[in-house]
Amino acid sequence: MRKGAAPVSASAPGKIILFGEHAVVYGEPAIGVPLGRRVEVTLAPGRGRIRVAVSGEVSRVRSANAASPRSLVEAALEGRLELLDVRITIGFPPMAGLGSSAALAVALLRARDRLLGVRMPARPSRAMLEEAIAIENVAHGTSSGLDPAICLWDQPIYFQRAPERPARIRPARIGRPVRLIVGSAGTHGGTRGAVGGIAELNREAPRLVGAMTRALGALSRAGAAALEAGDLILAGRAMDLAHGLLSGFGLVSERVEHAVRLAREHGALGAKMSGAGGRGGALIALAGDSRRAARIQRALTAAGVIAWIELFER
Ligand code: MEV
Repeated sequence: MRKGAAPVSASAPGKIILFGEHAVVYGEPAIGVPLGRRVEVTLAPGRGRIRVAVSGEVSRVRSANAASPRSLVEAALEGRLELLDVRITIGFPPMAGLGSSAALAVALLRARDRLLGVRMPARPSRAMLEEAIAIENVAHGTSSGLDPAICLWDQPIYFQRAPERPARIRPARIGRPVRLIVGSAGTHGGTRGAVGGIAELNREAPRLVGAMTRALGALSRAGAAALEAGDLILAGRAMDLAHGLLSGFGLVSERVEHAVRLAREHGALGAKMSGAGGRGGALIALAGDSRRAARIQRALTAAGVIAWIELFER
């Protein structure tokens, strides 16, 4: 970048997975929605400095398995870093199952393209998705591509990818406003480890893992149909069932389990862990109306969980 050139900025949202995490790695469908909170990246002329700030509340627990932002920046900027300074602002708890790596990968690619004068396509491109997946893999090992797809599409999506095939992605239809309480109960243990744990079990007991991932896929389909029909009660039941299966895989920490129970006790129509899970991570609760949503948020906050409300409409 030329000395004295104007800085360029770009952003991408965090994500939550409503249904299908982990099962998506085995070709089952998933539903993901973007967060209102984003990662912002600014590239300015410089000499390779990277500054990272996290705005808002952040868990003090750090993930030992978190990839450093530097490794993602280097992968995205490929040799251009010495001439740039990079400022990253993460607007939600990082390394907590909310898609900070994927959002950073997408924001970096968008900023890089802006810097190079590449025109943004009106719709997200498959090429950009593949590039974002490759960068996110620096953090995650082999990703299904779900997280970067949510960040790139920036709208609720239904995502499915059979092995070695391009992903099928379509907007997820939402028949009635959906209020989700998003909770962050500490950093997760690392996506690579969580995905690897199921892969190990799959090597020992493929029929068992196959049956469970197919059940999670069935819940994604049922959840998608319920959300499209505006049947929040059924969507909530599907969330509870998915949580039970993910918990059986050992992906739910005690804090997340407690928070999920608390959300249900305070009137959630359904609640589940979200994302990779492990030693901590994210959870979501579905509320039938704004009053109930506020009540659940208050209960989670009082229990020490970082919690806020996200609203999704058709
Ligand atoms: C992580 O946010 C979602 C997982 O399904 C991994 C992936 O899809 O790559 C656990």
